[in-house]
Amino acid sequence: MTALHKDAAIAVIGAGAMGAGIAQVAAQAGHPVALFDTREGAAAQAIAGIARQLGKRVEAGKLDAAERDAVLARLSPAARLEDLEGSALVVEAIVENLQVKRELFEKLEAICGDDCILASNTSSLSITSLAATLQRPERVAGLHFFNPAPVMALVEIVAGLASDKAVVDCLYATAKAWGKKPVHTKSTPGFIVNRVARPFYAESLRLLQEGAGDCASLDALLRDAGGFRMGAFELTDLIGHDVNYAVTCSVFDAYYGDFRFQPSLIQKELVDAGRFGRKSGRGFYDYAEGAERPAPQSLPAAAKPACVVVEGDLGPASALVERLEAAGIEIVRRDGAGLIRVGEAVLALSDGRMAAERARDEGLRNLALFDLALDYSKATRLAVAFAADCDASTREAVAGLLQAAGISVTAVTDSPALVVLRTVAMLANEAADAVLQGVGSASDIDLAMCAGVNYPKGPLAWADAIGVGTVLTALDHLQRSYGEDRYRPSLLLRRLHCAGERFHG
Ligand code: NAI
Repeated sequence: MTALHKDAAIAVIGAGAMGAGIAQVAAQAGHPVALFDTREGAAAQAIAGIARQLGKRVEAGKLDAAERDAVLARLSPAARLEDLEGSALVVEAIVENLQVKRELFEKLEAICGDDCILASNTSSLSITSLAATLQRPERVAGLHFFNPAPVMALVEIVAGLASDKAVVDCLYATAKAWGKKPVHTKSTPGFIVNRVARPFYAESLRLLQEGAGDCASLDALLRDAGGFRMGAFELTDLIGHDVNYAVTCSVFDAYYGDFRFQPSLIQKELVDAGRFGRKSGRGFYDYAEGAERPAPQSLPAAAKPACVVVEGDLGPASALVERLEAAGIEIVRRDGAGLIRVGEAVLALSDGRMAAERARDEGLRNLALFDLALDYSKATRLAVAFAADCDASTREAVAGLLQAAGISVTAVTDSPALVVLRTVAMLANEAADAVLQGVGSASDIDLAMCAGVNYPKGPLAWADAIGVGTVLTALDHLQRSYGEDRYRPSLLLRRLHCAGERFHG
């Protein structure tokens, strides 16, 4: 299916944050764009705002003045809904209310020609339901941009039950022609991103609630070991807890209370207190003038060991051994079950069991478990959990070893699957279920999480990299430790693992 021709008229309804951004994207792609809002003067104001923004880009030498003028000449405010009659595509970005949106679509259906595509930018409403009261529901689909629309590359193309495939394909091709990265998805709660991202916040909130670590340490671990741009607490402070909590509650309710999406009492309390994050001056962190950002916990500097014994293959953490060797530590290799012995201490990559549990199961003394890292050759911090019998000298030996390779060590309370492994396993689990349920393909879901929320790697590509079996084992152990449905592994993970297959090729 081909994209709409760039001469095709586009209408955007709702001149708020999203509508203005979408209008700008369409005008930059060469379309004549009409912007309509029921609020007096709002459309003209939004166009003036776009002019200011483009002006700054011209001043910074990033945009040609003639190009700016051409984009602005293509944008016009519409006085009445009836003025949108000749549009080839209407994108609705008004208030998030099913009834109000339905009424708007019903009016548009009477105004616009039969070929006009009616698209909604809704984040949380069902496209199927939005279209249900129309004469021709097949011409309705979701065109879900991310904020700010001119900057964020991802667009979720959402098919409702009645959406015509040609309409959906045209929107996909059009978003691509507009320089975006579109993905196909179905009208299910949260679509791809707002569903698959839930565990990113939920697992940090749970670790905090259980006292596994403090906000600054857990955030630092997701950044410095996980490779995420921000940890969950700084990110939700930025998004706003009112918004983030509302999305979690809406997804949780929409999935009939599935515990995978259970909201957090800690976040609710912040919302109740009006601590919405940056915008209100306080969330998990304090944004008052002069307030100090707490530093992550790190074990004190300890002596570098001369030699370690590496038993067997460390699997996803093999690059760590090379890094230790490059730091001048002598490596003695032996057969074994994937352990590093340093002094009296035994160090192993978490498999989802608590250190206490694994020490007991495998008869190991002085066991310390370390966390998953996106890239062990670059990680600057790792979480470590110590079994109960570890004394001060064990902690020093482990700290000295990892510090010698330039890795800060954050000791967390002995918790199943630690921080990064737990987060990545749960992200991959949700992504796997979304594939299983036909919400998106593995490649679209990975693309959505990288382009929509800046993940350093798609959750399914990450599962492939560390092994689908590694993810499955971590989830099985989490489920056993907590006895909760929340951690149940996706059927697809087990199916792929048993068949020796991967998500990608
Ligand atoms: P907003 O509140 O900034 O703007 C909404 C605009 O719609 C307002 O200017 C309002 O006057 C206008 N409006 C309300 N009812 C109208 C009607 N019946 N006809 C014409 N105009 C009407 O809202 P925002 O943030 O731009 O969100 C708009 C839509 O985009 C919502 O469906 C939201 O779920 C979705 N969305 C929002 C994102 C965000 O981060 N803010 C991200 C992605 C989607």
